[in-house]
Amino acid sequence: MVPQISTLGGYIFEYQKSVTNPTGFWAHVADSFFWRKKWDCVLDWDFEKARVQWYSGAKLNITENIFERHLFYRGNQKALIWEPNDPAEPVRELTYQELFDEVKRFSNALLRAGVKKGDRVGIYLPMVPELVIAMLACARIGAVHSIVFAGFSAQSLSDRMLDAGATILITADGGFRGSKTTPLKAIADEAMEGCNCVKKAVILRRTGEDIQMKAGRDIWWDEFVAGASTDHQAEVMDAEDPLFILYTSGSTGKPKGLVHTTAGYMVYTAYTFRNVFQYGDGDVYFCSADIGWITGHSYLVYGPLLNGATTLMFEGVPTWPDAGRYWEIVDKHKVNQFYTAPTAIRSLMALGMEWLDGKHLTSLKVLGTVGEPINEEAWHWYHDHIGKNRCPIVDTWWQTETGGMMISPLAGITPTKPSYATMPLMGIQPVIVDPEGKELTGNSVEGNLCIKYPWPGIARTIWGDHERFVQTYFSTYKKLYFTGDGVKRDEDGYYRILGRVDDVINVSGHRMGTAEIENAINEHPLVSESAVVAYPHDIKGQGIYAYVVCTDFSTGGEEGIRQSVLMAVSKLIGPFARPDKIQIVSGLPKTRSGKIMRRILRKIAEGETGNFGDTTTLLDPEIVEEIIKGRL
Ligand code: PRX
Repeated sequence: MVPQISTLGGYIFEYQKSVTNPTGFWAHVADSFFWRKKWDCVLDWDFEKARVQWYSGAKLNITENIFERHLFYRGNQKALIWEPNDPAEPVRELTYQELFDEVKRFSNALLRAGVKKGDRVGIYLPMVPELVIAMLACARIGAVHSIVFAGFSAQSLSDRMLDAGATILITADGGFRGSKTTPLKAIADEAMEGCNCVKKAVILRRTGEDIQMKAGRDIWWDEFVAGASTDHQAEVMDAEDPLFILYTSGSTGKPKGLVHTTAGYMVYTAYTFRNVFQYGDGDVYFCSADIGWITGHSYLVYGPLLNGATTLMFEGVPTWPDAGRYWEIVDKHKVNQFYTAPTAIRSLMALGMEWLDGKHLTSLKVLGTVGEPINEEAWHWYHDHIGKNRCPIVDTWWQTETGGMMISPLAGITPTKPSYATMPLMGIQPVIVDPEGKELTGNSVEGNLCIKYPWPGIARTIWGDHERFVQTYFSTYKKLYFTGDGVKRDEDGYYRILGRVDDVINVSGHRMGTAEIENAINEHPLVSESAVVAYPHDIKGQGIYAYVVCTDFSTGGEEGIRQSVLMAVSKLIGPFARPDKIQIVSGLPKTRSGKIMRRILRKIAEGETGNFGDTTTLLDPEIVEEIIKGRL
């Protein structure tokens, strides 16, 4: 098992070791894994070239560290508990042995279909155990999985499959989420028309709806695995072989396919999972994130399973059949650690206390949050009413790019403060810089958050575009990884994440680029330009405010434009990216050189009517007056 810290003194001591002798520290952690061959070199790095290699020369397979490493004494232990969308449907539970057999069967089926080491496999599935089986089977044969959240549109799926060069797509007829179903196969059909790299599709039957099967391309999951054996030797991978590609949004351009590699990601997710949650053998751990996002990858699947944990996955939504669903699941499965997003906490808090009636929540030991800043009110509600004042909250700050948690308390060990992610985890060396890149040392400082030394979980590149990786993360500040977040270090040296300082917005924990949403809006034939900004939203953390300039209102007037803008965004990105407010304006505030002054638009969306800072370069001040008057 990975080394586990159990006291504050232990944390301080281990942290010191991890920064004074990082390679010694991470070699020691890595010793607890199963390697086909150990590394030649623990770390080789150059932030200027954005090149990082951990454990190079080592050979391994991550699934051998999940299965073979644990089977002897955990074969009959539950690996995965699946709670269906509809509470009347039976729960599914898979032991380590059962999950292993399914993974091996699917591995053999993939190989039989011609999928080879290094090939990219697209996965577009609802939250069902087959999603875990498919991703682990890819890892087992050395194929690179690229999972796309099942809320994304056909266009987004197609763009991602094309960028990754996926040759096969694993999807389902449809997916259940609360009272709704999503026609995943119909969406996937449309996506596959736009990406001719995908030659085969495997379809899981979930909702039972009528779908079209394309002869020669589509095959049902059951037929695909029929007759496949459960004997399978894992492919031997290099430490730096890609494990997966996961797309995420940036401030500009199309989404970036971040590449995580095998050994470092394995060591880092396993180590942080055990230490942050203080997971103990026999505990039941429930992460409510969708596997389509990094939290699901790292802390629903890989981190827990690498620790031989019992991980619970939930297909549905927190408010269906009613707003007590999470708490019912906690009681039903005696969940010990629960990890969710501040948005979920805020929305459940807003729905009232009655949903906690009759819920015991006595099994809970640790509560976690991730994805966005948690406000003090939500923190206290979570702490008092869910944790009953006895469960520590781990507010974990990290990113798709970091692979695993970076700044977080260790549960029950690090003293917490509401809305603070508290202290850096082992090996993490945060640096706060001013806009010019000057390091702000000491306590009571605020600035941009960078990291000055590599950790094993850091993404290695952007798929097919290393230069963009260099530019995005390693060129704003010399020799530093720039996170894109603002941060405060308080008088005690505690870190509080203040949110993004770039054009990335975080709506209900879903990360989006404002440029992506603008591009979708601008596809509308009657829209000449648009600007999207975030504004504070009580439940979602941030809401999306779109300022839209139209050329013509003849069809349907302003309301007609609004409706078709919403449709365009749903179609091109997904329903979760739909603006909350759409203000039709006659122009946008621009500088004389034609640059949109977003700062002004952000302030107006936040409700300000003045204090716009320096406006001397503003081309047309009247536009600002008009926009303020029409604010929604
Ligand atoms: O702004 C930070 C916010 O989420 C961003 C990363 O988003 P994503 O790559 O989608 O990963 C989310 C799950 C790890 C960060 O740049 N963020 C994440 N965790 C926190 C947070 N903001 C404040 N507090 C957190 N605990």
